[in-house]
Amino acid sequence: MFITAQSQETKTSTDKKWWKEAVVYQIYPRSFKDSDGDGVGDLKGIISKLDYLRSIGIDAVWLNPIYESPNDDNGYDISNYREIMKDFGTMQDFDLLLKGMHERGIKLIMDLVVNHSSDENYWFQESRKSRDNKYRNYYYWWPAEKGTPPYRWSFFDVNSNAWKYDAQTDSYYLHYFSVKQPDLNWNNPEVRNEIYDMMKFWLDKGIDGFRLDAFQFASKDPSFPELPKEIVGKPLEIIKYYGNGSHLHDYLQEMNREVLSKYPNAMTVAEGAGDSPKAAMKFVDPDRKELNIAYHFESVDIGKHLSDFGLVKYKDIFSRYDETFKDKGWLSIFMANHDQPRMVSKFGNDTEKYRELSSKMLTTFVMTMRGTTFYYQGDELGMSNIRFDNIEDYNDVDTRNKHQFLKENNGDLKAFLEGQKQTSRENGRTPIQWNADANAGFTVGKPWLKVNPNYTKVNVETLEKDPNSTLNYFRKLVQLRKNNPVLIYGKYTLLDKENPKVFAFTRELEGKKTLVLLNFSADNATVNTGINLNNSKIISSNYQEMRSNKSILRPYEALIIEIN
Ligand code: GLC
Repeated sequence: MFITAQSQETKTSTDKKWWKEAVVYQIYPRSFKDSDGDGVGDLKGIISKLDYLRSIGIDAVWLNPIYESPNDDNGYDISNYREIMKDFGTMQDFDLLLKGMHERGIKLIMDLVVNHSSDENYWFQESRKSRDNKYRNYYYWWPAEKGTPPYRWSFFDVNSNAWKYDAQTDSYYLHYFSVKQPDLNWNNPEVRNEIYDMMKFWLDKGIDGFRLDAFQFASKDPSFPELPKEIVGKPLEIIKYYGNGSHLHDYLQEMNREVLSKYPNAMTVAEGAGDSPKAAMKFVDPDRKELNIAYHFESVDIGKHLSDFGLVKYKDIFSRYDETFKDKGWLSIFMANHDQPRMVSKFGNDTEKYRELSSKMLTTFVMTMRGTTFYYQGDELGMSNIRFDNIEDYNDVDTRNKHQFLKENNGDLKAFLEGQKQTSRENGRTPIQWNADANAGFTVGKPWLKVNPNYTKVNVETLEKDPNSTLNYFRKLVQLRKNNPVLIYGKYTLLDKENPKVFAFTRELEGKKTLVLLNFSADNATVNTGINLNNSKIISSNYQEMRSNKSILRPYEALIIEIN
């Protein structure tokens, strides 16, 4: 890294911090690499690929949950926060992984899933035993004699009530996510203290930060106001009914005081981060002393495919957020994660002809826009949606529950399955394609989720050998970003705003100006930047054949141009 000075405080957007400069690579451990042939990725599998991680130049890994879990929601239902999931290995494996990462200069960010636990967590097991159990108030309970609780749908089952009746104590418990993910009661200081202790346990082991899962839901309006029918299934609108409660930021400030301030180099990322740029800023405004990086959803919740919502709307989201964050606070830039379809299948073009080019174009965007880059495993290979035909191929609680509901209610199952081909989370969860051997070299057993059949061509081993592959392009762009502080700290200005095909913007820092031109379409596209490009220099292109005309871009062309 080119910048070494670190201070605890970061007041303005140009103050230096390692986590602003980092390229964070997301590992979904279930699908990364299996070492023992049970078909499920594991920690030893990741250890065996540490040199690969170093070779791609990334600075940090965000690891999805690896804690003990019955896996109703692939580890987001935690039964013991201080143990490792058996499928993934042991604490010794974890210690080796952390050591191996640090030896290679890679930091480790863990998922912090504390809006809810698993129903198999000791706390919940106790809580449900009796109304006067010590752990009763660790969760939300609604005694049946108060009548039916106010209706809430659950994210993984929009048509069932998120208040589940539990006969043992004749009460309902709240679960915004699956029925096996009861919501923890953050109003209870004992819950908060348990969680702070647990955070210290991991930070003391040497991890480098946390990604806060679904934390905006941790503070709820205790009156549970009636839910208007029209907002069912609309994530951004429901936030004010489900979360963003009046104590949300008190909890984060307390967490900062009790834990984070004691680990000033740790990085924290807020998943969700509210329903507007202003709300997102509240999580990371340095004056408020809460978290570091906001990870908002507007740019992924915008719709199913770029062709539906259009580039102008998409550009507007990034520009609006950047406007709010231009002086202070910090954002993340991402196009995919384990809850999303593959980036090339949503924002690019995954046909044979354009998959590679458009993947590289999208990689250029996340490496040049202001904000910490979060890059999802496999995107460096140009992995695309698998598009399962049969419900039996899905494992995800989200897809399976919704399918089951439609089935019971004579819904249109065919249309549902067609839709899942574009939107299902499992499109992004298929195993990483390491080579052209059976199961793409991911496992010698039967993979927990089918491997994308394009693995014979799209795999690490094959792409390593091709200097122009998406993989080697990713490596180049990581280095380019590291060597050009302007791409990290530089001011962002959108150009040619209404252009429906091209995302054009400049980044400027200390007299240096860089222009980024991205053609998000399969056509040649003209761009009007208003900048005289006569003396400019192309420093990166995703096409091999360079060209002199910088104002007409070829399909999915991505250019980075130095202006002075
Ligand atoms: C977050 C996770 C998602 C999980 C949910 C419930 O949105 O990213 O995978 O299902 O929270 O924990």
